[in-house]
Amino acid sequence: MQQAIAILDSGVGGLTVAKEVMRQLPREKIIYFGDTARAPYGPRSTEEVRTFTEQIVDYLIQFDPKMIVIACNTATAAALDYITDKVSVPVIGVIHPGARAAISATKTGRVGVIGTVGTIHSGAYTSALKQLSPYIEVVSQACPALVPIVEQGVFRSSESYRAVEESLNGIKHAPIDTLILGCTHYPFLVEPIGQAMGPGVKLISSADETAREISTILYDKGKLSSGDETPVHQFFCSGDPEMFQAIARDWLGEQIQRTPVVWQVS
Ligand code: SIN
Repeated sequence: MQQAIAILDSGVGGLTVAKEVMRQLPREKIIYFGDTARAPYGPRSTEEVRTFTEQIVDYLIQFDPKMIVIACNTATAAALDYITDKVSVPVIGVIHPGARAAISATKTGRVGVIGTVGTIHSGAYTSALKQLSPYIEVVSQACPALVPIVEQGVFRSSESYRAVEESLNGIKHAPIDTLILGCTHYPFLVEPIGQAMGPGVKLISSADETAREISTILYDKGKLSSGDETPVHQFFCSGDPEMFQAIARDWLGEQIQRTPVVWQVS
């Protein structure tokens, strides 16, 4: 049986990474888990996010994935090292790929980061950026109002434009030329974010770079799929499967064929 790439997130945000993996690696099967019953992770403690991430990884391991992608910035900041030590398959997060993409995009060396309270307070982006380029200047802003808008499926509404405008008040006049969307939910809001920041700021989603890193790792390990069959992806969520499916259909189109399976969180 074809081994899959397991992708997990607090909810639907990781679908932005899944979509890019489907585009760059169309032969790869994906098993996606969205912890929609417990999203958002952003306001939760590091310990709680680590526990939730571990529970999901324990669940996904039964499918014998060839690698695990923590497609949630909050969970990456809280649990990437812990999960990497725990399992024997490669594990990657989304913070280093996002930081790398921002370093190659910035011309002025001034980079903004928006994310959840958990991600911004962890300082994980600032460390990753400075590790790559010590003189980079980083301006960060937590935007706690944005994940719920995406999880409620109202990311195309006028309410979303208002919430984005308010959330970005503290960063939109900062002298940056690049803004990292440091939460995998934010690409759903790329239009209002682009409108608020203006054309002089390049928006970076970690999805493209994460998919490239997956490709490199699987190639190096000789694990890229070579079959001709179109993979049938599997989706799991812990909350309302209809809401999940509606958002996933909107974002992925026909790539989601089956109703997501609900995992009861205890
Ligand atoms: C969240 O659940 O609060 C956001 C997920 C992320 O940080 O990407």
